[in-house]
Amino acid sequence: MCGIVGYVGSRHAVPLVLEGLRRLEYRGYDSAGLATIQDGMLCIRRAEGKLRNLERLLQEQPAEGSIAIGHTRWATHGVPCERNAHPHVDCHHELAVIQNGIVENFLPLRQELTAQGHRFLSDTDTEVIVHLVEAYLAQGYDLIEAARRSFARIKGAHAIVLLSRQAPDTLIAARIGNAGGVIVGVGEGEMFLASDIPAILEHTRRVIFLEDGEMAIVRAQGAQFLRLDGSSLSKSSIEIPWDPVSAAKGPYRHFMQKEIMEQARSLTDTLRGRIDFASGWVELPELNLPPEEARTLDKMVIVACGTSAHAGLVGKFMLEKLARIPVEVDYASEFRYRDPLIGPNTLVLAITQSGETADTLAALEEARAKGARTASIVNMIGSMAQRISDGYILMQAGPEIGVASTKAFTASLVDLLLLAAYLGQARGTLSQRDGQRLAQHLAELPQQVGTVLSEGYNNYQRLAEEFHHCEHFLYLGRGINYPIALEGALKLKEISYIHAEGYPAGEMKHGPIALIDRDMPVVTIAVRDNVYDKMISQIEQVKARGGVVIAVCHADDEAVQAKADYVLRIPHTDPLLTPILAVLPLQLLAYHLAVRRGCDVDQPRNLAKSVTVE
Ligand code: AGP
Repeated sequence: MCGIVGYVGSRHAVPLVLEGLRRLEYRGYDSAGLATIQDGMLCIRRAEGKLRNLERLLQEQPAEGSIAIGHTRWATHGVPCERNAHPHVDCHHELAVIQNGIVENFLPLRQELTAQGHRFLSDTDTEVIVHLVEAYLAQGYDLIEAARRSFARIKGAHAIVLLSRQAPDTLIAARIGNAGGVIVGVGEGEMFLASDIPAILEHTRRVIFLEDGEMAIVRAQGAQFLRLDGSSLSKSSIEIPWDPVSAAKGPYRHFMQKEIMEQARSLTDTLRGRIDFASGWVELPELNLPPEEARTLDKMVIVACGTSAHAGLVGKFMLEKLARIPVEVDYASEFRYRDPLIGPNTLVLAITQSGETADTLAALEEARAKGARTASIVNMIGSMAQRISDGYILMQAGPEIGVASTKAFTASLVDLLLLAAYLGQARGTLSQRDGQRLAQHLAELPQQVGTVLSEGYNNYQRLAEEFHHCEHFLYLGRGINYPIALEGALKLKEISYIHAEGYPAGEMKHGPIALIDRDMPVVTIAVRDNVYDKMISQIEQVKARGGVVIAVCHADDEAVQAKADYVLRIPHTDPLLTPILAVLPLQLLAYHLAVRRGCDVDQPRNLAKSVTVE
């Protein structure tokens, strides 16, 4: 999704902004551009496609200045092309604007401004913003007031940054709604703006988050804040603990590979400080849900999108089993429009790695509006989901750069298990003995994750060689591992562009069985649990129809090894933790197939890391 970077200080702004944009590349984009002020004139450079095209343009037509704004665009209004790339300028080339989000009322605004004589050069919704500011300036307002009045008229959810030739030392930023984030980075005699922390982490860890309806006026020596209603505001910075090295690729070929391989560590971090392994006692202070209130809950609804929704489906099993509370799982995009039956005794839990997914934020807002208690499981510290929820659990997985979510998925599963145990303890549905047994399994989990990940590089290479030509895969699982079949299929399709479907194994005979042949491998999750026999029979049914089976099974399971064509082995653990181990081979399988097919693993086509539009 769109990325935003801004700089004002004494250094050359253009390379700093370009470097920041590069750190946001993982969000996905189709064009890029920047604006600076050189010799008192606004200087705009834009290019379709990747950042290297913009860099090439800058080599031919250099731009220099100590203030700049930059943007990577992910098209919503108007095709990806140079003309539609940001920044957009006003009629007199005085102002430049970049935006992340959708201006919902752009049509009436464009008609109004066109009628006043403004000339539009792009098809974008964003361009109305810069003409609106121009119109207010023409009415005699100063720059800040013109910007404030303009931003206040814009409907939707946005992050906006404005640069003016008349104020060559000032950046103006605003956040409207819950979609695009804006972070002000505080340096020594220099200031930064960004849509996402990794863009500026190398330069500063002191940041200030803009909230809905807030504006920042940023100069090299500091920032002032005000609300879009004109009232004044004071904000203070917080310190971000991540270091730039942890956001870099290290020795790995792709971020996704690195993130898969570091799951033993990310899960250790996720567990850290939350559970006493001896007593099994779980503490989740940021959840802000004391035991007496946990006992009043009569229902939970999990809202999330994509991979996070799959985590929610696994979480349902954990929560119902340990806390004996009914759990519904809903796609956030559906929940927000279905007038859900929730109230003060419902806990609506959002799961979102980025904490900025527009649908998930809207679902949280809907839950709040209906009086439900809200909580979120987030990876991005300080993200909007965290801030608008009554309580939260941090994944502690560290930055996830690859568009395909891997370590955030397993971290959210561990958080869900901790939540289920916490609620089980509070509600008296989890005995101390069972809590201790689970704690023991959790203590062993990181090491088991390490074992699965360190085994069988050649195995996956062989599978990739064998199956990279296939155009369809079917993934089957049952019970708590059915969502893992969904997740395995999602991973494969998003990075390798192979069509893959996840199905509850018992449903195979009701339709998908018609598809079975040698060219559609069937990946089954057949672990020794309460539906093990059923999974064995599914494998037999696939084999009887000439199908090829790749089975995820326990390392000592000779029965599955004898029946399946290929096996991916995992160790034994508690059935509630099995999904965390079972998904690892599916992540690796997807990764190796995508690499073999020559795909852009970290930035798959059409996808964005943070989906901040509806
Ligand atoms: C995961 O691999 C996806 N790219 C995507 O489905 C993602 O999980 C979804 O967009 C939700 O993101 P979030 O967790 O940041 O809310």
